[in-house]
Amino acid sequence: MILVVGGAGYIGSHLVKELIKTKEVVVLDNLSTGHRWAIDKKAIFVQGDLGSEKDLVKVFEKYSIEAVMHFAAFSLVGESMQAPQKYYDNNVGATLTLLRVMRKYNVNKFIFSSTAATYGIPSVDMITEETATNPINPYGRSKLMIEHILADFALSYGLKYVTLRYFNAAGAYETAEIGEDHDPETHLIPIVLEHLLGQREQISVFGTDYETQDGTCIRDYIHVTDLAKAHIVAMQGLLSGQLKAATYNLGNGKGYSVKEVIETCERVTGRRAKVELAERRLGDPARLVALSEKIERELGWKAEIGLEAIIESAWRWHQRKSDTLASQ
Ligand code: UFG
Repeated sequence: MILVVGGAGYIGSHLVKELIKTKEVVVLDNLSTGHRWAIDKKAIFVQGDLGSEKDLVKVFEKYSIEAVMHFAAFSLVGESMQAPQKYYDNNVGATLTLLRVMRKYNVNKFIFSSTAATYGIPSVDMITEETATNPINPYGRSKLMIEHILADFALSYGLKYVTLRYFNAAGAYETAEIGEDHDPETHLIPIVLEHLLGQREQISVFGTDYETQDGTCIRDYIHVTDLAKAHIVAMQGLLSGQLKAATYNLGNGKGYSVKEVIETCERVTGRRAKVELAERRLGDPARLVALSEKIERELGWKAEIGLEAIIESAWRWHQRKSDTLASQ
């Protein structure tokens, strides 16, 4: 049995869809940002808090857990600048509670969702796992703190772990059953698609004076199903004993500017966006693009889905969501 903490959230729910094909899964989620409907019906669901030792103990008492995957973090760069306490309490404090309970129940395999935000403003165009980590916002720092804690726990307590540094997760499940659904939504692709569906007046481009080709920020967009598959190979590596302590980037290796993303959304949907050029958003690095060769070399994983197909899948999901809302 694999415990997926945060399995009702955007990335967690896509992981559960993949994982359930080969493993029994228990999801622990407090539904603060995730959705009950997003959890695959074949998974066991327990509503509870990552930071509550009592809730965790209930799960570890009842189920025989082989490994834990942790998706239950707050993950918005902008929000973390406004509310660092919230980020450190949950992303660091509550994760420590989880690690403590894991130790108590002798569960020593852990897959951790980390982020490109740990790199801060990288000094190289293509980020490898060796690139220095200097996060520039509390979100990135909260994730990096846990990375350090995992390394210490590996040395002292024999924890076996894989840290996966996601670049920009996007897209939706192939059947459009589940997809990105944040409230409020702050991410670029869903915002553009909601606008193209007539659900938002206009879109804002945050910053047009970055040192990039067209002045807007560049990101590496990766499909959630590609991310989910990386977790499966990481888990197999831990369970087989091949991996003991590893950190991998998960990206496509190709960067797109905010303007290019908007243009691709327009092309995919055949609609025109109304764009406002706005101020920079606090905490945003100009460029974050990954080299993910390490995980390809060691575990044979490679991102397969490019930006256009990512947006096509997200578009199918947003249309479906919009139809569902209209029929309610
Ligand atoms: N952006 C806009 N307008 C919007 C929304 C976003 O111009 O309305 C811009 C942002 O300023 C940024 C880019 O689009 O330059 C991407 O922004 P997102 O909010 O979609 O994503 P972020 O890059 O801020 O962050 C995401 C995740 C983080 C993760 C990071 C890794 O939310 O958890 O990717 O690169 F750390």
